[in-house]
Amino acid sequence: MDSKWNVCIVSGASRKGRHSVRVARNIENQLQDREDVGRIRFLDVEQFNFPNYIDGAERSEELNERLHAFSSSLLESDAVILVSPEYNGGMAGSMKNALDYFRSEYARRPFGLVSVSAGTMGGINAMHQMVDFVSYVGGWLCGKRLLVSSVQNAFGAEDQIVDERLKKDSADFLNELMLMVSVVRSERSLQR
Ligand SMILES: Cc1cc2nc3c(=O)[nH]c(=O)nc-3n(C[C@H](O)[C@H](O)[C@H](O)COP(=O)(O)O)c2cc1C
Repeated sequence: MDSKWNVCIVSGASRKGRHSVRVARNIENQLQDREDVGRIRFLDVEQFNFPNYIDGAERSEELNERLHAFSSSLLESDAVILVSPEYNGGMAGSMKNALDYFRSEYARRPFGLVSVSAGTMGGINAMHQMVDFVSYVGGWLCGKRLLVSSVQNAFGAEDQIVDERLKKDSADFLNELMLMVSVVRSERSLQR
């Protein structure tokens, strides 16, 4: 069995000055340094730029190609990490809209959740919405979650983490998620 895991990061903010993408990129960097991680796919909803949800018959070929790329990345992943800012007490609409295009991709897949806010509450309301979403679609939630407060002060000029607590919390979060992935994968290999 391949013991390097494929991870997909979904970055949910679409506004120009978004800070949460720095959190997502930092998680990507930390994953790159891990020996248990193989391929990492970074899915930035701003770049995929899906329109407000439309049914299959209305989708252009070009949109279908973008959706297929997103879907394949989810399907090929051993774990998905959702990174959303908190907007008006919930996850970003751009994140929810992108996620709504998919469904079967989520079932029984390990999920790690990250919420981001400029305030002191770490985007707890967005986190609750993501927990509800993943539970509803049948994903498997990692118990440890990463809540990022005061994100505007968390990074230095080179986009390195300067907030010591975030440094520790993000490492702990990834350790727990990857432990969950290895347990899930080894159980699955026993069932084959
Ligand atoms: C439309 C909008 C609504 C927001 N609502 C909240 C909120 O409900 N709670 C909160 O803590 N921060 C809120 N914020 C601040 C964000 O937490 C802040 O912008 C942070 O940097 C994460 O979002 P970003 O990735 O867009 O930068 C809001 C920001 C925007 C643009």
